Amino acid sequence: MFAKDGKAKDVKTPRIVQEVWHNGEWIKWDDARVHVMSHVLHYGSSVFEGIRCYKTKRGPAIFRLTEHMQRLINSAKIYRMEHEWTRDQLSDAAIELVSRGGLEQCYIRPIIFRSLDEAHPAFGVNPFPNPLACYIGAWDWGKYLGEEAIEQGVDVCVSTWNRLTPNSMPAMAKSGANYMNSQLIKMEALLNGYAEGIALDDRGLVSEGSGENIFLVQDDRVITPQLSSSILPGITRDSVIQICRELGIQIVESNIQRAALYIADELFFSGTAAEITPIRSVDKITVGTGKRGEITRRIQQVFFEITSGEREAPGHWLTYVNEIKASGPSSNGHNASQAKATCASSSNNTETVADFETAMTE
Ligand SMILES: Cc1ncc(COP(=O)(O)O)c(C=O)c1O
Repeated sequence: MFAKDGKAKDVKTPRIVQEVWHNGEWIKWDDARVHVMSHVLHYGSSVFEGIRCYKTKRGPAIFRLTEHMQRLINSAKIYRMEHEWTRDQLSDAAIELVSRGGLEQCYIRPIIFRSLDEAHPAFGVNPFPNPLACYIGAWDWGKYLGEEAIEQGVDVCVSTWNRLTPNSMPAMAKSGANYMNSQLIKMEALLNGYAEGIALDDRGLVSEGSGENIFLVQDDRVITPQLSSSILPGITRDSVIQICRELGIQIVESNIQRAALYIADELFFSGTAAEITPIRSVDKITVGTGKRGEITRRIQQVFFEITSGEREAPGHWLTYVNEIKASGPSSNGHNASQAKATCASSSNNTETVADFETAMTE
């Protein structure tokens, strides 16, 4: 599905919610525009989120809403964006947006950025004079790496581009500017005929995909890079870690060498857009049997059972929009402590080993 020139659209986006939340007001999609001299366009000064809302028997359900909004607040704090939007206010806005949009399922995109005060414009790098704007939009989005990918897996490469270093661009913040690095990784992969690229960190250790975290399975153990490998603290990553615990699968956060990718029994990506996508080859080296592995399949199955509301999640993971609307916004069950723990640190639920060599030679 990926054209050799990389110009094919990633997925079809047939339906867009025609309203957008802007600084506490509802505006039309067509009116959600910015001035071309806005700070964000020139200097990359935005932070954002990507959140999925799933179709369930109880109506649309937003996946780990509080954790996503907490990560947005964290990203803004790292970039000294002083604003008054609270996590609960943004969560309520997302719920209202899904309700207004009337879609059974969608992808929700909140963004905070430095815009332009047209009466008192400022054009320099210094972001402080520029006002902040917050928008939340939504659209229906299919499978990010293709429908088939969920079962068949994808062919990927190790990128020649490294992931950002922690003291240059913090990967912990989901900032728009970080995605220039992601675009280099993605374009190179597409133009070379791969679905995705895996970046190494500045030490040459495995970091993550351009828009996904990565997991290896080796000898029935699931292993994923530590946060210190310049990864985004993925909310799907955290979900996978918790699902492994529930299934009694050993899960380890560790340094991982590039070569470990080639000899892993199974590999998969995790992410809001990619969900759980198996990887069937890296740099044209077949991973395991070249098909989705059994542990990946089990984790994927539980993940989709949870997101479709058929199986109870280990925590308050689904926000049922119609039920919240029926009973008022105060009932949306924002889970403060869980959200903070997910976004700021390594999971409490994993072992951490010094590096993957240790894990492989035991
Ligand atoms: C660079 C990067 N890493 C990892 C992820 C996965 O994070 P999450 O599971 O929170 O979507 C994403 C997607 O947002 C991403 O863009």
